Amino acid sequence: MNVLVIGNGGREHAILLALRKSKRVERLYCMKGNAGTAQIAENVDVDYMNTDAVKEFALAHPEIDYYVVAPDDPLALGLVDVLESIGKRCFGPRKDAAIIEASKAFSKELMKKYKIPTAKSETFDSYDKALEYVRRQGAPIVLKADGLALGKGVLVCETLREAEEGLKEIMLDKAFGAAGNKIVIEEKMQGLKYDPGEEVSVLSFTDGKTIVPMITSCDHKRAFDGDKGLNTGGMGTFSPCPFWTEELQKEVLEKIMIPTMNAMNAEGRTFKGCLYFGLMRTKDGMKVVEYNSRFGDPETQVVLPMLKTDLLDIFEAVTDGRLSDINIEWESGACVCVVLASGGYPVSYRKGMEIKIGDTGDCTLVHAGTAIKDGKLVTSGGRVMGVVAKGSDVEQARKKAYAAVQNIHWDGIQYRKDIGIKYREG
Ligand code: AMP
Ligand code: GLY
Repeated sequence: MNVLVIGNGGREHAILLALRKSKRVERLYCMKGNAGTAQIAENVDVDYMNTDAVKEFALAHPEIDYYVVAPDDPLALGLVDVLESIGKRCFGPRKDAAIIEASKAFSKELMKKYKIPTAKSETFDSYDKALEYVRRQGAPIVLKADGLALGKGVLVCETLREAEEGLKEIMLDKAFGAAGNKIVIEEKMQGLKYDPGEEVSVLSFTDGKTIVPMITSCDHKRAFDGDKGLNTGGMGTFSPCPFWTEELQKEVLEKIMIPTMNAMNAEGRTFKGCLYFGLMRTKDGMKVVEYNSRFGDPETQVVLPMLKTDLLDIFEAVTDGRLSDINIEWESGACVCVVLASGGYPVSYRKGMEIKIGDTGDCTLVHAGTAIKDGKLVTSGGRVMGVVAKGSDVEQARKKAYAAVQNIHWDGIQYRKDIGIKYREG
């Protein structure tokens, strides 16, 4: 089969690397891709946010059998619906299901209605009413722009002043554009052992009838060591999550994952694809922080390398509604991804820096913001690449990844030194 993956980042490169291992894959394509995807796939220069252009491309290329829509924006736009309307087979939810990520107001309402554990919240479209509510609740309090905001539309406010400023930023100044027309205001959850509370990402495959959790992982959203600095797209990940247990998995499946799948069915919005559960372990059990309608980035970089089962087999089983027939298996051991970014990320940074790579052992370099310019590998984005290492445990994988990082250079390279350390005490 010939498979095309839509997206430009590390997640897409990681999906392509996993698909390349499939015996049934003949040719791989990536729209638009980066310098890393170009090594294993043919990059296609079409703007995937232009659904007419994608449709035209798909009609002109009947040799492509299967499409994987990986990023949130084209999913929210309904790119899967468009491709299916011309008879193409896809991995990814339709627009009516992708709303579980695209609107936090929708997902909070869904959880309320179906009693899925999450932080208590209220949604507002009036600034005045929101302000009144914030003043009544006091701090700490969490503000969330309703729509998609590159993972940056959430403000955890420790003081009332911060909350008042944040509210103005989101609803009046429109710091996140139309995503801030509505706002979700919720209580700050307390972790069972840590503050900020301990978080785990559980990605799952679901065809709307069966839901299968993948191995767990932990993200590092803040820019600097010790979870300091601004939120980013993710500065590194490791798998598995140290505090995960069989009991937690059972609790999450029974109280969160299966009820979410059923809730989406009951709403007439059957979700097929990768449903991502961002969870927090609290004193009152596991709770949902957020849903994503897609593979996480950089979670995918540490989850898919541990997959033993053929990824294309799983994708097709999801599309065809026969996921229950597939036995999904994972390697034991651990995997770590250290993200290397451009200096100044996530605020402002330079592009076009030449990347020099020495000995990286058996680590995998998963590209995100890279390009080839005048025959040289250069940076072309904020998050440039992830160094992915496997080991018998997180500590061993972490040492391997950081040893490789020492041999990668460009002007202004920036990365966290503490990926793989948190939650060590369980
Ligand atoms: P989200 O984009 O919804 O995942 O939120 C971004 C980050 O903000 C999360 O990963 C948490 O670290 C934090 N966060 C979001 N909601 C809450 C909450 N209700 N209580 C505490 N922290 C939160
Ligand atoms: N790593 C978090 C996300 O993909 O949204």
